[in-house]
Amino acid sequence: MLKIEHLDFAYGEVNILQDVSLEGAPGRIVSLMGRNGVGKTTLLRNLVGLELPLSGRIILGDKELTKLGSYERAKMGIGYVPQGRQIFPKLTVEENLQIGLSGRKDGQKSIPEEIYELFPICKEMGSRMGGDLSGGQQQQLAIGRALAGDPSVMVLDEPTEGIQPNIIKMIGNILQHLAMSRNMTIILVEQYLDFVHEFTDDFYVMNRGRIVAQGLAADLSPEIVKKYLSI
Ligand SMILES: Nc1ncnc2c1ncn2[C@@H]1O[C@H](COP(=O)(O)OP(=O)(O)OP(=O)(O)O)[C@@H](O)[C@H]1O
Ligand SMILES: [Mg+2]
Repeated sequence: MLKIEHLDFAYGEVNILQDVSLEGAPGRIVSLMGRNGVGKTTLLRNLVGLELPLSGRIILGDKELTKLGSYERAKMGIGYVPQGRQIFPKLTVEENLQIGLSGRKDGQKSIPEEIYELFPICKEMGSRMGGDLSGGQQQQLAIGRALAGDPSVMVLDEPTEGIQPNIIKMIGNILQHLAMSRNMTIILVEQYLDFVHEFTDDFYVMNRGRIVAQGLAADLSPEIVKKYLSI
């Protein structure tokens, strides 16, 4: 079980997250939703150790992660797919995947075959530069790179942003497969309601740095959508 408890975070003097609590269970996919600028990415950066909270706790199983850096958290099984994908454009696809291996506990130095089975494009374009790939291909590579670290928790920031519908569906199916087959905990930021309903189990809605609604994705009501998500 992954637990974020009563997290507070500020950039300088500006409070960004206030009393945020969120849980991710093994085998379940959690959607984090909210309008632009409410603090979704900031929460994920706190979760993966790229920012440190002012107060609150982050717990994975029986271990506390709150004060650990991002490399240590990767070693403890947290995989991260950042917003905008952040592929290394001047490295090959294969080299991008190899970077993900550094998060492994077992020291394995070769890219797991399962990644190529899930994302054949990573094999087909293995020697091409990351920067040559389309947005959808880069997103697959970014997920593959996180998987190379053999995570038990995957954290994805807007994995469907700017991606065409057939690839969105493919990504949704793969995330469901990972949650089920590996009992993985998946936490993702998502703007599209259709994706939340079709592929995810639980939702949290943020507004101005606070969690203002949560529940089963199937129960996400039109009132909540209208109040906190519609533009
Ligand atoms: N490095 C930073 N320094 C100062 N303020 C920041 C920094 N990064 C983000 N912010 C501010 O923190 C707030 C939350 O930003 P964040 O990126 O977490 O929002 P978000 O919900 O992910 O938005 P989006 O939907 O646009 O991705 C915003 O007001 C933003 O301007
Ligand atoms: Mg964001």
